[in-house]
Amino acid sequence: MPESPIRKLVPYAEEAKKKGIKVHHLNIGQPDIKTPEVALQAIKNNTLEIIEYSRSEGSEEYRTKIAAYYSKNSIIVSAKDIIVTTGGSEALLFTFGSIMDVDDEVIIPEPFYANYNGFSVASGVKVVPVVSNIDNNFALPPIAEFEKLITPKTKAILICNPGNPTGYLYSKEEIKKLAEIVKKHDLFLIADEVYREFTYDGLEHYSIMQETGLEDHAIMIDSVSKRYSMCGARIGCIVSKNKEVINTALKFAQARLSPPTLAQIASEAALDTPQIYFDNVIKEYVERRNILITELEKIDGVKVAKPKGAFYCIAELPVKNADHFAQWLLENFNLDGETVMVAPASGFYSTPNVGLNQVRIAYVLNQKSLIKSVKILKAALKAYHS
Ligand SMILES: Cc1ncc(COP(=O)(O)O)c(C=O)c1O
Repeated sequence: MPESPIRKLVPYAEEAKKKGIKVHHLNIGQPDIKTPEVALQAIKNNTLEIIEYSRSEGSEEYRTKIAAYYSKNSIIVSAKDIIVTTGGSEALLFTFGSIMDVDDEVIIPEPFYANYNGFSVASGVKVVPVVSNIDNNFALPPIAEFEKLITPKTKAILICNPGNPTGYLYSKEEIKKLAEIVKKHDLFLIADEVYREFTYDGLEHYSIMQETGLEDHAIMIDSVSKRYSMCGARIGCIVSKNKEVINTALKFAQARLSPPTLAQIASEAALDTPQIYFDNVIKEYVERRNILITELEKIDGVKVAKPKGAFYCIAELPVKNADHFAQWLLENFNLDGETVMVAPASGFYSTPNVGLNQVRIAYVLNQKSLIKSVKILKAALKAYHS
C-alpha cells in the first residue's frame, strides 16, 4: 500500500510541535468551519437507548432525504439508487470492488486525490493516468489522450469534480465529452463529487447524474465530510441508476454490516442546514482563495493554478524536490516559532517523477493564518536556497 502524501509527514510535524513550534496545517482538507447547528443538536438531543446497526444500505429515512436533496440540485434519483457508506472513502472502495476485477484498469486524470492510488492497490486494479497541466489550471486533457489509453481491461474513467487537489471545475461541455467516450467504449464514469457545493465565481457544478443517457454508466461518490464540515461523522454514499452496480455494492455493504448509525442521524439532520450557512462558507472560501493565490503569486518563482472550486490549490515552487522541502520546513525551519505543513504533490500523481516541484495547499485555515503561512513559505524558500 502506498503511504498518503497528506499524512506521511505527520511524525515530523509532531516532532516540531514537541519543540514548541506552531505548525500551520495546510496539508489536510480538515476545514476549521463549524458543523451546522442542526447536525450537532441531533447528536446532543438524541434519545436512543440502543445504538443499533442500521440497514446495510443505510436507513430508509436518510436515503429518502438525500434523494430529495439531490432533486433540488437537478439530480433525479430515489432512495433505492443510494447506498450509504462509511465516508466517501468506503464508497470509492466499494465502487472499485463492484465494477472491476483484479488487473482491470481505471483511467484517472492526474494529479488526483492521492488515496485513489491506495484504493486501487487494495482492489488489485491498475491506475492509468492522463496528465493534466498546471498551465491551463488542470483542465480536462484532450479526449484523444483518454482514447489512446483504453484497452480491453479498461473498466472506468474516474474524475473528481470539483477537483482535489487541482480545484478545477469541469464544464458541462467537458462532462458531455466524457459521457460520449464512456458510452462509445461501454465504460463506467465515476465522479467523485464530494466538493459539489464549493464552486466559485458564479460557476455552477454540473453532475454526471444530470447527463441523460448516462444512467447505466454513471456512478457518483458523495460525502458529508466537506459539505457540512463533518469529516469525523464518516458518512458518504454511492449513487447510481445502474441496478447491477447498486446490487453488487450492497453485497460489500452487507459484509461490513452497517454504516454508522448515530452519524446517519446527524447527517440526516444536516440536510436541513439553511442556505445561509453555505452562502457564508462559500464567501469565506472565496476570500481565502483570493488571499492565498494573490500572496503566493507575489513570491518569485512560484506558479499557482487558480481553483474554481473545492478548497485546494497546486503550487509549483522553485525547488527541485518538494518532498524534501516539505520535510525540511518541519525539521529545520521556523519563522518566529511558526512553520507550515504542506502536502508534496508527487503523491497525487501516479506517473513517476511528475509534480516533483509541486505542493498541494489546502485553504482550510482562517485568513490570518493563511497570510502568516504564505509569509513563512516565502521566508523558507529564501532560507532553503541560501
Ligand atoms: C476527493 C475526495 N474524495 C473522497 C474523500 C474521502 O472523504 P471521506 O471519506 O471523509 O468522505 C476525500 C477526502 O478528503 C476527498 O478529498
